[in-house]
Amino acid sequence: MSYKITASEKALLQELQINEHISKMKTYPHHGEVTVFDHSEHVVITSLKIADLLCLSEQQKKNIIIGGMLHDFFLYDWHKGRIRTEGIHCWLHPKVALKNASALFDLNNNQKNIIRSHMFPATLLHPPTCAEAWIVSLADKLCAILEYFNTRSKNT
Ligand SMILES: [Fe+2]
Ligand SMILES: [Fe+2]
Repeated sequence: MSYKITASEKALLQELQINEHISKMKTYPHHGEVTVFDHSEHVVITSLKIADLLCLSEQQKKNIIIGGMLHDFFLYDWHKGRIRTEGIHCWLHPKVALKNASALFDLNNNQKNIIRSHMFPATLLHPPTCAEAWIVSLADKLCAILEYFNTRSKNT
């Protein structure tokens, strides 16, 4: 996939990434040595490549950048307790991420759906309902696998 992020997409991504709350994701480890921040960027770039192949619109790509960067915006270290007082991290974190993101940003319905449904089919009651959410959910799984294997291969 030879897709190159456009200047306006890059500007939107950077605008999000310099946000003080989003920057906090740099302090939380996620998959292997990859932080939640770097994983989220990886998911955005991978999703944009898929979106470009499928000829999605500029607005849909914008939704992917915002929803993708915020899909894991749960702001805690899940390694320090997968079972939290509110529930198990795997099922809980999309709900927490959406709550945190909605408190800071005025999200449209597709951006909300991207965040809430990204763990589908683990979250069966919250399926993707738009192309952008299906793409981010797929890219999330691909990126997580690559991140685990890259860290493992570095350490062996
Ligand atoms: Fe997630
Ligand atoms: Fe993720």
